[in-house]
Amino acid sequence: MSELVLDRIINAECVSEMRKMPDSSVDLIIADPPYNLSKGGEWKWDNSVELKGLGGNWNKVMQDWDNYSFEAYMQFTKEWLTEAQRILKPTGSMWIFGTYHNIGIINVYCQMLGIEIINEVIWYKRNAFPNLAGRRLTASHETVLWCNKGGKKREYYFDYEYSKNGDFSYDGLKAPGKQMRTVWDISNNKERSELAYGKHPTQKPLRILKRMIKLASKKGDVVFTPFAGSGSECVAAKMTGRRYLGIEMEKEYCEIAEERLLHAESNEDDMGQMTLDMFTGVSSKC
Ligand SMILES: C[S@@+](CC[C@H](N)C(=O)[O-])C[C@H]1O[C@@H](n2cnc3c(N)ncnc32)[C@H](O)[C@@H]1O
Repeated sequence: MSELVLDRIINAECVSEMRKMPDSSVDLIIADPPYNLSKGGEWKWDNSVELKGLGGNWNKVMQDWDNYSFEAYMQFTKEWLTEAQRILKPTGSMWIFGTYHNIGIINVYCQMLGIEIINEVIWYKRNAFPNLAGRRLTASHETVLWCNKGGKKREYYFDYEYSKNGDFSYDGLKAPGKQMRTVWDISNNKERSELAYGKHPTQKPLRILKRMIKLASKKGDVVFTPFAGSGSECVAAKMTGRRYLGIEMEKEYCEIAEERLLHAESNEDDMGQMTLDMFTGVSSKC
């Protein structure tokens, strides 16, 4: 097992890299894994195409890294979750993004491995991409599982005060001074600064990541992300005064992430710049 060298993105495959990490070495994991939305071989970018079994014209990413057979995806999910559970401190916790395409598989493996699901959060995206074919409802949410390592004692950190009394005035479903619920109303739009060094097809907005980090970690804690993409989780960690470590297997995304991290400055505000298009615009990707 190697000592953790923090505040960097490792360009590698995450399961093999996580196997080198010490037990109970990170405080918070934010995992935004491939959703396996690109399976089925070649796909033409045409919103009128009906994709059997994949939720119609769901906004697909069609990337090689997102294209597994069902069996391979099951195996991959089991492997990365096993390592995530091992490297997570008993006082830590883990946020996992997904949609109905993959979150059921993740949920089942969490239960099989003894990872406890603390909450299932619905991330409501009021600016979701419309269903152009008009043959089904417009998909407008993602699911996030918040989990702890499992075991007899529940030691995970939760900033209840922030969850109740933080400034969430951008969220139409969070009443000031009331307990935070499991439906979060957060625009998927990215600010210009989030896209300044290149784009990733499934980039997450800093707004939701800062919320997750502040709810479940303290300043100075280590935030780890096995699927770093353009580095959003690491950028959010740096901005909020946490240490970070990310793994990403595509070099071009590592380069975007490194540029973003180089320019990221301390900014704990999770409101972000409020612009009209946050509420009326349509996001380009799920
Ligand atoms: C859903 S995206 C994450 C996007 C990220 N949250 C952001 O905001 O940019 C998943 C990322 O995981 C990477 N990836 C997929 N499989 C991987 C693996 N086995 N090891 C490391 N990275 C992987 C992909 O290249 C992709 O960039």
